[in-house]
Amino acid sequence: MSPLELLVLAIWVMLPAYVPNNAAVVAGGGRPIDGGRTMGDRRLLGDGKTWRGTVVGTLAGAALAYLLNLLQPTVVSFLGIGVPTFPLAAMIALPLGAMLGDIAASFIKRRTGRKRGAAFPGLDQLDFAVVALVLTAVVAPSWFLSVFTAGLLVVILVVTPIFHVVTNVLAYLFGFKHEPW
Ligand code: CTP
Ligand code: MG
Repeated sequence: MSPLELLVLAIWVMLPAYVPNNAAVVAGGGRPIDGGRTMGDRRLLGDGKTWRGTVVGTLAGAALAYLLNLLQPTVVSFLGIGVPTFPLAAMIALPLGAMLGDIAASFIKRRTGRKRGAAFPGLDQLDFAVVALVLTAVVAPSWFLSVFTAGLLVVILVVTPIFHVVTNVLAYLFGFKHEPW
């Protein structure tokens, strides 16, 4: 597979995990998941992780996977790149894993004394992708093994932080986010 085909494939399979965080930024608000609870003198997760953002983000990613399934035959015939369809388990695991990874990162940020919105370089850019991949591997193992070759995983781990930085800077410039990360 050419590098360009690998890149298209990486974007295709990760789109359902990329969209949830952005959807959560737009939809977020309301009751925080931790309900205001603290651990020691710090919040468990903080006000940046809400039920509405998490549910809407997960549904947005699953809906996108559904849309990609509809588009898949056309993409294969026009681009000639063998992008896969998403089984139901992956349609849910990719966005849900992305949201859980982001939530886990908030937990780590609070434990390490970082306030809501503080940056944690490295963690911020990969938390969602890693947990999305691990959860998908657990709930859809045969699909995962047939799609995610070692080469594809390397491309994903390289391009995901780049996309994350670019989308967050854009979201900040357009006024959706309070911080550019
Ligand atoms: N958001 C949400 N629910 C989520 C994730 C995000 O409601 N599960 C919304 C919140 O309004 C949040 C915004 O999206 O403030 C930006 O998301 P993110 O950068 O992940 O959160 P932060 O505010 O930076 O909080 P933290 O430091 O805990 O990551
Ligand atoms: Mg943030």
